[in-house]
Amino acid sequence: MTKDTSNQMWGGRFAAGPDAIMEAINASIGFDQRMAAQDIAGSRAHAAMLAATGIVTDSDAEAMREGLLTVLSEIETGKFEFSTALEDIHMNVEARLKEIIGEPAGRLHTGRSRNDQVATDFKLWVRDQIDAAISGVEALIRALLAQAEAGADWVMPGFTHLQTAQPVTWGHHMMAYVEMFGRDKSRFEDARKRMNESPLGAAALAGTSFPIDRHMTAEALGFDRPAANSLDAVSDRDFALEFLAAASICAMHLSRFAEELVIWSSAQFRFVTLSDRFSTGSSIMPQKKNPDAAELIRAKIGRIFGANTALLMVMKGLPLAYSKDMQEDKEQVFDAADNLMLALAAMEGMVKDMSANRESLEAAAGSGFSTATDLADWLVRALNMPFRDAHHVTGTLVAMAESRGCDLPDLSLEDMTSVHEAITEDVFGVLGVHNSVASRTSYGGTSPVRVLEQVARWKEAL
Ligand code: ARG
Repeated sequence: MTKDTSNQMWGGRFAAGPDAIMEAINASIGFDQRMAAQDIAGSRAHAAMLAATGIVTDSDAEAMREGLLTVLSEIETGKFEFSTALEDIHMNVEARLKEIIGEPAGRLHTGRSRNDQVATDFKLWVRDQIDAAISGVEALIRALLAQAEAGADWVMPGFTHLQTAQPVTWGHHMMAYVEMFGRDKSRFEDARKRMNESPLGAAALAGTSFPIDRHMTAEALGFDRPAANSLDAVSDRDFALEFLAAASICAMHLSRFAEELVIWSSAQFRFVTLSDRFSTGSSIMPQKKNPDAAELIRAKIGRIFGANTALLMVMKGLPLAYSKDMQEDKEQVFDAADNLMLALAAMEGMVKDMSANRESLEAAAGSGFSTATDLADWLVRALNMPFRDAHHVTGTLVAMAESRGCDLPDLSLEDMTSVHEAITEDVFGVLGVHNSVASRTSYGGTSPVRVLEQVARWKEAL
């Protein structure tokens, strides 16, 4: 791969080329070629600005801008020959530009450095990923809303400690995830707003003596403004960390949901049937249908947490401004972004395709004395009992049902009055799971009316 001994970009003070091992540890072209489009966009904006400020001639800038497009198309069509000796995407592009347009290529690097260049490229790349994450999360929210709307009044057990707690609605459970992914969306949007300042023109670290126009390049690249401090601009990777932090929280939500899908699709639960499109079979057990996509989402998110920690470790000991350590930012972020997008798309596909088993959900909703709280609440309402006393009476009735191997609605009125004489027939009205969920009309509660209100609010918001 090595074409030259001493580097054609910075070899002036060097008598010899690098050792092969030095080249291997130093080069980032193996991965940072993923930022080729951003690098060329940044250079084209810089070239236009150099001409507008009179730093280079219009014809030189025009040659650079045209030549950069040629380089881009060579890269996009796989014709470009990347060189390890040229270290990174910035020098590979510039060297090829030199081959294509000759002398004007050497003027492109006026008033900038690879330090502001890489910060700019990487920011543009991360910004695209944030936009992709936002659309991915929105698509998933839409799939959840469709599930919630269809099953707004289907009952299922609500759990605490994974023990049956109170009946809830399927719609309510789906909408819990809508809230979680809604916060993820706003975290990505928030990070995008804060990151959107251009490092370009900060040069190596101190700014430049050329009369550059950083506002012009910032605007051309879709930034809100140039970053205000050149030292900070070249040494800041907060934008990547904020992306990874928001991605980690989003991934944690994906993993919790994946875990529920694994449990729910088991033969013991049968709450959902995942589509064949998002399941696999077993090579030995013909009856098996495995929730592999959910399991892989659950596993892959560890890489995103890892990337977040790894980049924090890279950054935590660095004095200002740029250090080569920062080259280790990219692979982590690339991998995290790839896996986040894949997990979001797989989850969206699973949610779109899955069918809830209404009968199993309802049967499970009534088991495990899930309406015990409704009974206690009835005692408070109908008999004006203090809640603590009502809790005790209900507990006695639960113990009675448990010893008989039946559920609360199966006890007779005589059984009930043997524990508290004032209980009447009316109590059976609250012991059904549908009555239970319908009664929970407090704001944010599980009743179908409240769920449908939230579905409408989210549809409006999207
Ligand atoms: N490949 C380098 C990186 O990814 C570009 C910046 C190099 N700057 C320097 N001063 N050596 O960080």
